[in-house]
Amino acid sequence: MRVLGIETSCDETGIAIYDSECGLLSHALHSQIAMHAVYGGIVPELASRDHVRKVIPLLEEVLVKANLNKTDLDAVAYTAGPGLVGALLVGAAVATSFAFACKIPAIGVHHMEAHLLAPMLEENPPEFPFIALLVSGGHTLLVQVEDIGKYQILGESVDDAAGEAFDKVGKILGLPYPGGPALANLAKLGNPKRFRFPRPMVNRPGLDFSFSGLKTFSLNTLHEFGDDPQTKADIAYAFQEAVIDTLRIKCKRALQQTQLTRLVVAGGVSANLVLRTQLQKLAHDERASVYYPRLEFCTDNGAMIAYTGYRHLLLGQKGDLAIKILPRWEIGVTKKC
Ligand code: KG4
Ligand code: ZN
Repeated sequence: MRVLGIETSCDETGIAIYDSECGLLSHALHSQIAMHAVYGGIVPELASRDHVRKVIPLLEEVLVKANLNKTDLDAVAYTAGPGLVGALLVGAAVATSFAFACKIPAIGVHHMEAHLLAPMLEENPPEFPFIALLVSGGHTLLVQVEDIGKYQILGESVDDAAGEAFDKVGKILGLPYPGGPALANLAKLGNPKRFRFPRPMVNRPGLDFSFSGLKTFSLNTLHEFGDDPQTKADIAYAFQEAVIDTLRIKCKRALQQTQLTRLVVAGGVSANLVLRTQLQKLAHDERASVYYPRLEFCTDNGAMIAYTGYRHLLLGQKGDLAIKILPRWEIGVTKKC
């Protein structure tokens, strides 16, 4: 079975073809980062328009790369939510039209579920059950995963997502959008001993997160100590350390609480190498294993959408041709639109 995947939920147009026998056949990605960077953040209307421009050429590109025709595909999967309404509509409209023309099903996929399953595309995929830490620009979630479609949210951010906090503190420090990778680079120059930022919500029970206080803490530190390059690097270091340490503490708690021994880490922030090192150490201490997508599939991509659509088809999900999107959609909840 061959499934075309279309991702347009935010600022990346990602298209891919997954084959049940051979794995990922081809994938293509266009990032809108340069376009939005001028404005310091995502401009939703520009995002939608750019998806319109890029989705068909990328679709043609993945077919050529895989040496396939449209008629060789068995289904189309698209991101139905959560995400930006206009951006989601582009992918949903293209996917359902394509499915109609080719007489194949169109499957709407949950974007965070797709992040969660992205490590399944790697050579040593995790077995169920596992704990998933999903850290992206829009969400921070700890999920207990029993099987495909069986998700229990153990904890989530009560305010900013981890990636969002990286982006906002990046902006405070004068870094280009998106702040995450730029801040991680600046942190390498920071003095580890200069500042220690708080670890929010670690002293109370539970697995929820809160990152917006760290943003205020960063801003106040900048005002108090000045905005010379070294101070900025020291703040970047302390901020990153606090976020990662908080994520580590909550992952440890989730593993101990559930007695599970597999941890999946996915979403844009899982590309952070310091986070990876810290969670590797945690896994070692807890006699657990940690699984990531390859770096290019940590952030948004079409491969994870194609794969998730494939897994849902295996479970007997029937696609239909209604253009359905859910800009707000909790993982594990069957969509009702
Ligand atoms: O998963 P993703 O591509 O999009 C959403 O679904 O939101 O995640 C993007 C987020 C951005 O906030 C970006 O700053 C963050 O992931 N990010 C990072 C790194 N690379 C991307 N944050 C910290 N360190 C990184 N190396
Ligand atoms: Zn994402």
